[in-house]
Amino acid sequence: MTKVLIATDKPFAAVAVQGIREIMEAAGFELALLEKYTEKAQLLDAVKDVDAIIIRSDIIDAEVLEAAKNLKIVVRAGAGYDNVDLDAATAHNVCVMNTPGQNANAVAELVFGMLVYSIRNHFNGTSGTELLTKKLGILAYGNVGRNVARIAKGFGMKVYAYDAFCPAAIIENDGVKALGSTEELFEKCQVVSLHIPATPETKNSINFDLMSKMPKGATIVNTARKEVVDEAGLVKMFEERPDFVYLTDIKPSNDAELAEKYGARYFGTPKKMGAQTAEANINAGIAAAKQIVEFIANGVRKYQVNK
Ligand code: 3PG
Repeated sequence: MTKVLIATDKPFAAVAVQGIREIMEAAGFELALLEKYTEKAQLLDAVKDVDAIIIRSDIIDAEVLEAAKNLKIVVRAGAGYDNVDLDAATAHNVCVMNTPGQNANAVAELVFGMLVYSIRNHFNGTSGTELLTKKLGILAYGNVGRNVARIAKGFGMKVYAYDAFCPAAIIENDGVKALGSTEELFEKCQVVSLHIPATPETKNSINFDLMSKMPKGATIVNTARKEVVDEAGLVKMFEERPDFVYLTDIKPSNDAELAEKYGARYFGTPKKMGAQTAEANINAGIAAAKQIVEFIANGVRKYQVNK
């Protein structure tokens, strides 16, 4: 019998797990659950007899792939798949997929949750500021970026975007001004929201030179990946620009130091929360389950990322 494992260090909402279970039962598959595991050994043990795995930010490296002798498919219930060793998966003949767009609205809503919390001075009772008419720059116009643009327009912000791979016409069709480069976006916008994936090209690409181009009142919101921001550059920015604010859903390694030194100018969610809504868990989890059934039953490889 085909065995599917949900391996989620950060669990889905129970309702999403139930939905996945129903899909697996209807397909005649067995479902196993490994949540909140603390040791890699638990994951290595859980994968040893499974045909398919559903993960979130869980690390699937060569060792895990080696331990999973029957494995045919890994679906990352979410967008970013930098947590999966794609080359090792290909070498083991394992298909890797993601579920693009399924949790995008949840992440986009958190951008504004953090922004409002910040500009209202963490709700401490003092006078804050407003988003209306402020210039927002969206770096990368994918599924999350698009949702951020939609919500920003509701706040009455002036919305700009730059995406190296998305034609300007598509961006402008949404009523968003397309800019010609990352530099231009940082020069123009007081608030920049990051939506680039972590790749060898993007890692540490948000550096001091770039950040320091931002106008007064500079705020960066990072709901993408911590690796895209250069940590030394971040510290320099805090030191040299007293106006600078950094809001992040993925804490940098020097989180405690930043929180202590820069107080309200730095905010990091206690745990990565962007996709942590029941709706996003249901959307991404159910999509992952359906993709596994379609792959095992019919060989459908839509959304494969290790082609
Ligand atoms: C994603 O890439 O989909 C998001 O970063 C969400 O990640 P998570 O499932 O670990 O919350």
